[in-house]
Amino acid sequence: MPKWLKDAVFYEIYPQSFYDTNGDGIGDFNGIIEKLDYIKELGCNALWINPCYDSPFSDAGYDVRDYKKVAPRYGTNSDLYRLFGEAHKRGIHVLLDLVPGHTSEQHAWFKESQKAEKNKYSNRYIWTNAAFQPAKGFLYIGGETERDGVYVLNFFKSQPALNYGFLNPDPKEEWQLPMDHPDCLATREEIKDVMRFWLDHGCDGFRVDMADSLVKNDDKEKSGTCAIWRDVRNMLDEEYPDAAMVSEWNAPERALNRGGYHMDFYLNWGGNGYNSLFRDYETGEDNSFFKKDGKGDIMRFLDEYVPRYEATKENGYYCLITGNHDTRRLKKSLDDSELKIAYTFLFTMPGVPFLYYGDEIGMRYLDVPTKEGGYFRTGSRTPMQWNRKKNDGFSTCPADALYLPVDTSSDAPNVASQEADETSLLNTVKALLSLRHQEEELQADAEFEVVYAGARKLPFVYRRGTIFIALNPSTESVSAPIEAEDKEIIFSIGSGDVEEGRIVLGPQSCMVLK
Ligand code: GLC
Ligand code: CA
Repeated sequence: MPKWLKDAVFYEIYPQSFYDTNGDGIGDFNGIIEKLDYIKELGCNALWINPCYDSPFSDAGYDVRDYKKVAPRYGTNSDLYRLFGEAHKRGIHVLLDLVPGHTSEQHAWFKESQKAEKNKYSNRYIWTNAAFQPAKGFLYIGGETERDGVYVLNFFKSQPALNYGFLNPDPKEEWQLPMDHPDCLATREEIKDVMRFWLDHGCDGFRVDMADSLVKNDDKEKSGTCAIWRDVRNMLDEEYPDAAMVSEWNAPERALNRGGYHMDFYLNWGGNGYNSLFRDYETGEDNSFFKKDGKGDIMRFLDEYVPRYEATKENGYYCLITGNHDTRRLKKSLDDSELKIAYTFLFTMPGVPFLYYGDEIGMRYLDVPTKEGGYFRTGSRTPMQWNRKKNDGFSTCPADALYLPVDTSSDAPNVASQEADETSLLNTVKALLSLRHQEEELQADAEFEVVYAGARKLPFVYRRGTIFIALNPSTESVSAPIEAEDKEIIFSIGSGDVEEGRIVLGPQSCMVLK
């Protein structure tokens, strides 16, 4: 386990939308470099940058055309290497996004693979033996290629699946190759080669896209895919022991216990524990726990999270996120007063927290037309709001040249105004992250235990080592029988007290007690 993860706090950057330094309306590497001091002051000491590789951008760069070359719109490979160096100078680690399950249909491998004549890349993707032979059980495309066969997709039409083989090839479907077929092993080695390329240039690891998608006809436990990741982890342990891997999987028992991942994300799909905290509207009526109407139920989260945490905590980190480029922004359902309590929770929980750019100022989920395969996700991908200047300080280009429109409302949150306001969301996030760095027991490893919680019962109180965290998202005053007289308040929002044998919290309040 890379030691630096213990006190890591990640900042996710969607590079298109972070900061534009050459006035073309699109964010760039130099923009990220210019804002590293901002990120450091915020309290984040690690970055995850969404795919920044050469791509036709049918899926915002998750359709990679060249794994080893950056997209010219962000700068050059050398600019990215410089970014690694500048980040390291400030004690910031950088993860790139690895997309191992598929490439763009414009990748050189695919161009070779679709040729009628057999070549080195024929089996790099998954093809049936004839254009009229369907790839049963899969999404597939036929009729577009020189080659007589159909090919399997991993996601959008533009993203053919790379071939890592089938765990249990169907004997009646002779085109399904076993995992240990030399051509499937070659795919695996190519991805390791891509990883080595970036790690050798100074990158510190990867966020892995659709990490569970490699092996086809895998079993329920994803044994085939886990075996590949375990093999990758062995390579890292030997060659790059400080490199970190986080999976987009939301299955920590697989990712952490069997797949060798250091971290796995708790995501807004595959259950509803995470959504029940602040995106409950996605699953029905909005009874999000952090809404001030107090109709939420923390057990919906705990019943799902605690068993997963307990089952995996020895092997890695099950990580909480404020959101990401695929979710709606938290601000869609929570106002700033609600967000402050939600962030107190997110930044005092075990594992490694991930903050999506702009969530520190409460950027809104905007109603904008789809861009580069974003659809509903596009509303969470708009340019960062730095100040009240032109285009919210994101770019000096004409407004119609922007990658995506900026929030033009008169009260659009921005960094400069919030820096000047002591009570702002931004300053609350800074205070919380600085507290986390100061208190080892609030970081990734210290034990987590529920102290007081129940269906529609408030406050919610939990323990990290010897530190107590008590949260009251509702507008009612609440109290709980908890012995904490010997403790000191080291952080608070709103009003709260420890009386004889009780913790008392005013409306929308929280306390951290040491
Ligand atoms: C992941 C990415 C998402 C992308 C998809 C296909 O879910 O986070 O943005 O569209 O994979 O690569
Ligand atoms: Ca630019």
